[in-house]
Parts: sequence; structure tokens; C-alpha cells
Amino acid sequence: MEKSPVLKNKKIGFIGGGNMAEAIIKGLLSSSIIKASNIFVSEPNKRRQTFLTSEYKIKVLKNNLDLSKKSDVLIVAVKPQIMWEVLSDIADHVDSKKLVVSVAAGYPISQIEKALKKGKKKKLCVVRTMPNTPSVVLEGVTAITAGKGVSKPDLKISHEIFQAVGRTVEVPEEQIDAVTGLSGSGPAYIFMIIEALSDAGVKMGLSRDVANELTIQTVLGSALLVRETGTSPGELKNRVTSPGGTTIAGLHALEKGSLRATLMNAVEKATLRSKELAE
Ligand SMILES: NC(=O)c1ccc[n+]([C@@H]2O[C@H](COP(=O)([O-])OP(=O)(O)OC[C@H]3O[C@@H](n4cnc5c(N)ncnc54)[C@H](OP(=O)(O)O)[C@@H]3O)[C@@H](O)[C@H]2O)c1
Repeated sequence: MEKSPVLKNKKIGFIGGGNMAEAIIKGLLSSSIIKASNIFVSEPNKRRQTFLTSEYKIKVLKNNLDLSKKSDVLIVAVKPQIMWEVLSDIADHVDSKKLVVSVAAGYPISQIEKALKKGKKKKLCVVRTMPNTPSVVLEGVTAITAGKGVSKPDLKISHEIFQAVGRTVEVPEEQIDAVTGLSGSGPAYIFMIIEALSDAGVKMGLSRDVANELTIQTVLGSALLVRETGTSPGELKNRVTSPGGTTIAGLHALEKGSLRATLMNAVEKATLRSKELAE
């Protein structure tokens, strides 16, 4: 694959080498847009350190300060509870030349900038993102929101990083809670739907293995059909629903169970909860 013109010679440092950082590292390396020698991580857990070096051949640095000095792009991938402490520690080594990308859920750009400024006046280049767990299998979707100081090339770098683990969209920061309610929490909704459909197959006499295989491929295939045909889900549904047939009987049961209102309620509740937690 062609090397990325934007990311190619950048040094990327991950603060925190947990699940999300690993997913991004894996995606970046498998899409060949950056060399392992240009990826650094700082991680306190010894077992994780050994795993990350042996599995991905990337360099583990002893502390966040060394990592910050070395990196052009800093991806902050620690839990939101320790964001303030981690950011204030590296603040003196972060200026507008360094792109800071946060994946922390519910942590606003204003807080990131406040922690990095430590009361001083300086320009910063901060991007906030909301990825989701399918990033681990390189099928994630990440919403990106840029702070005031972010240039077009830096925004492009942010997209390239997350496109290595799936797709990206750009939203204003006030929509990040809605993103959390839809694609952030969304995998759990779909897991529940997959589990329920598989249970239904078993109830109707199929083995668990067969029911799982049928369900997973039906969900995956239907999503791909919507994506690849560009046809609306409503139209695709109509095409497989013949008068007086099996599908309309099933759809009627879904309507009686208020499937659509239930899913809309789920996204609404999760969005409101995300807002509450951020406050
Ligand atoms: N996982 C997801 O699907 C997902 C989705 C969207 C957003 N996020 C966000 O991504 C961030 C990371 O989540 P995660 O699931 O990857 O968590 P995680 O697996 O717990 O990773 C965080 C890593 O940071 C390390 N760490 C702790 N203190 C540190 C410090 N002072 N300096 C450097 N590293 C430190 C932790 O080590 P120890 O284990 O030793 O503490 C851990 O390995 C969170 O802010 C989360 O909100 C995650």
C-alpha cells in the first residue's frame, strides 16, 4: 500500500498502551501508513510493555515526558479520570507544533487545553475523538472534533490515524454526546440484537452454532448491502417484503414490540447520560 504523505515521517506517541491504543497501533501498522520505528508508547504496566514491544516491535518509553518530547503527534489514550494529571505533567513540553489527539470519553477540549496551558497563554493544537470498539477488528467508526488551533494538515493526520482502524466522521463538539449514544454505545445494542436473534433461532429448533452463524452473517451482510448499494434501508426492506409473506409477518411482530421507538429511546437515553457524565 502507498505510504501516507502526511503521516509518513511523523513520530506518533501513545500515552497509555491499553485496548484503544493497541487497536490504533495495530491498524496503523497493518495499513502500512507508518513504520513501527515511528511509533512510541508510554505505559506503566510491565506486562503490557513486554507484550507491545514483542507483538508490534514498537518502542516503549519509560515515562510520558520522554514520550512527549519525542513525538510529533501525541495520542492520549488513558482513562478520563487521570487525564488531568497526565496532561498537566506533560504541559511544559506541549506547544502548537504538537498535535494532541484525545480518545478519552466525555473529556472536553476546553479541559484538555486548560490542563496543557497551566494558566499560561499559548496556542495549542487539540483534537478530540470518539472511537468505538470495532476498531479492534479495524471496522470502527470515529467521530473527530477539532479545537480552534487545529490546521487542515493536522486534521488530515487525525483522519488518517483513525481511518487505519475503520471510518471517520467530523462533528462539532456539541454533538459528541450524540455520537457516544449512537456509535459509542451502539456496538452493545447490536450485540444484544445478535444475541436475541440467535436465541430466537435456537427457540425455533436450530443448533446454537447454526443460529449464531446465520445471525452474524445476516447482520454483517445487511449492513454491507446498505453501504454498497447506497439504497435506503427502508427501500431494501420493502424489496424483501412480499404481500402476505413471511417477512411482513415478522415485521408486524417487530412493530408490535416497538423496535424502532425502543432503539430511538436507547440512543436518546445514552446521549443524555453522556451529557450528565461530562458535567
Ligand atoms: N475501549 C473503547 O472501546 C473505547 C472507546 C472510546 C473511547 N475510549 C477511551 O479510550 C481511553 C482508553 O481506554 P481503554 O479502553 O484503552 O483503557 P485501558 O485498556 O485501561 O488503557 C489505558 C492504559 O493506560 C495506562 N495508564 C494508566 N496510567 C497511566 C499513566 N499515568 N501514563 C500512561 N499510561 C497510563 C493503563 O495502565 P494500567 O492498566 O496499569 O493502569 C492502561 O494500560 C479512555 O479514555 C476511554 O474513554 C475507549
